[in-house]
Amino acid sequence: MSTDHGKEEISAVRRAARLSVAPMIDWTDRHCRMFHRTLSTEALLYTEMVTAPALVRGGALHLLDFSPEELPVALQLGGSDPAELAEAARMGEAQGYAEINLNCGCPSDRVQSGTFGAVMMTEPQRVADCVRAMREAVDVEVTVKCRIGVDDQDPEAVLPDFLSRILDAGCARVAVHARKAWLQGLSPKENRDIPPLDYDLVARMKQSFPDLHISLNGGVQSLEEAAAHLRAGFDGVMIGRAAYQRPWDILAGADAEIFGKDSTAPEPGDVARIMRPYIADHVAAGGRPHQVTRHMLGLFAGRPGARAWRRTLSEAASRPGAGVEILDEALDAVEGEARAA
Ligand SMILES: Cc1cc2nc3c(=O)[nH]c(=O)nc-3n(C[C@H](O)[C@H](O)[C@H](O)COP(=O)(O)O)c2cc1C
Repeated sequence: MSTDHGKEEISAVRRAARLSVAPMIDWTDRHCRMFHRTLSTEALLYTEMVTAPALVRGGALHLLDFSPEELPVALQLGGSDPAELAEAARMGEAQGYAEINLNCGCPSDRVQSGTFGAVMMTEPQRVADCVRAMREAVDVEVTVKCRIGVDDQDPEAVLPDFLSRILDAGCARVAVHARKAWLQGLSPKENRDIPPLDYDLVARMKQSFPDLHISLNGGVQSLEEAAAHLRAGFDGVMIGRAAYQRPWDILAGADAEIFGKDSTAPEPGDVARIMRPYIADHVAAGGRPHQVTRHMLGLFAGRPGARAWRRTLSEAASRPGAGVEILDEALDAVEGEARAA
């Protein structure tokens, strides 16, 4: 790293990685991240995957847009060409991202056809070459998100080899989705549920590679579970679907319980009110409220009024000309349903 300033930033983002919200295409866009940031000031947030070809060859710079309030945010890149990934990483760093992450875990067909995502686990040397090129291009940390293996690979054999190669290439932090990807015959959705989870294997990797910062990913359902994994020796926990579907449950207690901050989480209704000016600005700039509120449907999950919130918000948001007042309608509906319960 070139400067002390850079070192401080890296240690801050590593601290944030104790709890992260996973990269999720179509879900963790900038509006979702802004919403998640109102729930936790500390957790590390990831972008959706952005492909290096889209940035470098397609010039799709708008894919890098984000608000500084979302920081710390990691940019996840998809790609397999070292020079192209290096260029995309440079673009991400210039835009202000705190970390550049390489996707070696996504099994979708579209992604396979471009030789990136989980299929990269069959080419560990190529991944190492990509990491090295990205590391040489940027000062921010370069990380990898991977599976424990693909198809008929033996994870006990391939995962240590994969990790040691990326470590040698300069990747000191990795998020491991603790199941295989089966590239033939399963949809991306099935690939998040059907191949069995193997947390023990990932725990053994932490013992074999003590210097590698390892975040455990896959199937974590609560903050208590995340805290238990941290106590057991993982450096971080990455949560995907549960954080999106039950954002208050997962994120609102994170600053106190995971990061030891002396802070009290805002109640869901307060979170909605905190988001109000952001949504108003978005609408004033020509956007639709639905683009933001669709990520907030789970805010009251498991609480009285959850159904009324979800229904009112989704119906009202699709009305032509809908504005920020839909939040007030949905909050009234929550109160009504909660009173009736
Ligand atoms: C809708 C959706 C989109 C996803 N998109 C990505 C992606 O862009 N990049 C990636 O590495 N993983 C992606 N994933 C996988 C998640 O990052 C995560 O590894 C997976 O959901 C397992 O974690 P969980 O059980 O906590 O959800 C996606 C998952 C979902 C549900």
